[in-house]
Amino acid sequence: MEQGGLSCLIVSRRGLRVRKPVIAGNWKMHMTCADARSYMSVYLPLIEETPNDRHLVIAPPFTALSTLADITRDTKLELSSQNVHWENKGAYTAEISPSMLTEHKVRYAIVGHSEPRKYFSESDEQINLRAKSAQSNGLIPIVCVGESDQQREMGEAERVIRRQVEQGLEGMNTNQLIVAYEPIWAIGTGKTCEANEANRICGLIRGWVGSSELIVQYGGSVKPDNIDELMTMSDIDGVLVGGASLDPKNFARISNYSLN
Ligand code: 13P
Repeated sequence: MEQGGLSCLIVSRRGLRVRKPVIAGNWKMHMTCADARSYMSVYLPLIEETPNDRHLVIAPPFTALSTLADITRDTKLELSSQNVHWENKGAYTAEISPSMLTEHKVRYAIVGHSEPRKYFSESDEQINLRAKSAQSNGLIPIVCVGESDQQREMGEAERVIRRQVEQGLEGMNTNQLIVAYEPIWAIGTGKTCEANEANRICGLIRGWVGSSELIVQYGGSVKPDNIDELMTMSDIDGVLVGGASLDPKNFARISNYSLN
């Protein structure tokens, strides 16, 4: 497991790349422990030859973390949680603390996904607390931002995303951080954001944060047939994959993206 900042110098066929891409699968509320075991029996052999110029991450439900911590030991796959609380213990029914995650070798924590924002009214302030708690406990937060269909149509996409970025990342160390640009209208709909537009927004986010090393992922209907194009984009440093990560062969194809 790498310590320190996420970025490092990578020599690719296309030249030098400073930010090492992060390919992450978000299983959401899918997969029992038994499902996770049989998934990994297919997926792990398919990433044995994957180059080390990318990070590979899976975010299973909490119940599968312990099982996966065992199965993925000494492999290229790292673990993420799908949430993290800002306290390390206390009367917070249904929440999970950073130390409960690091005990299972979890390295990343998704926060601010549009689903908890929508279903549980998570605010940017809460997301910021979660992200800061993750960082101060040695986890790398993957902070999700993105506009709705309606906000995009009204020309408000940039203003909305900028507010989410500024409030969600306030007071954070930008070297131990990932931002995932996930336009809500592209999540689970099959409508991928056009690669150039996704690239433009990812570049804007990096500019607003003011760190050339910040890893910015794209998420929203990423699939085997669009991954290669997305990964050629200069400002897209990886992807956060929902539906297509549930199939081990599809996620292996995404993990093994090629820039040729
Ligand atoms: P889909 O890949 O299913 O569109 O989901 C994206 C997502 O929400 C990842 O966090």
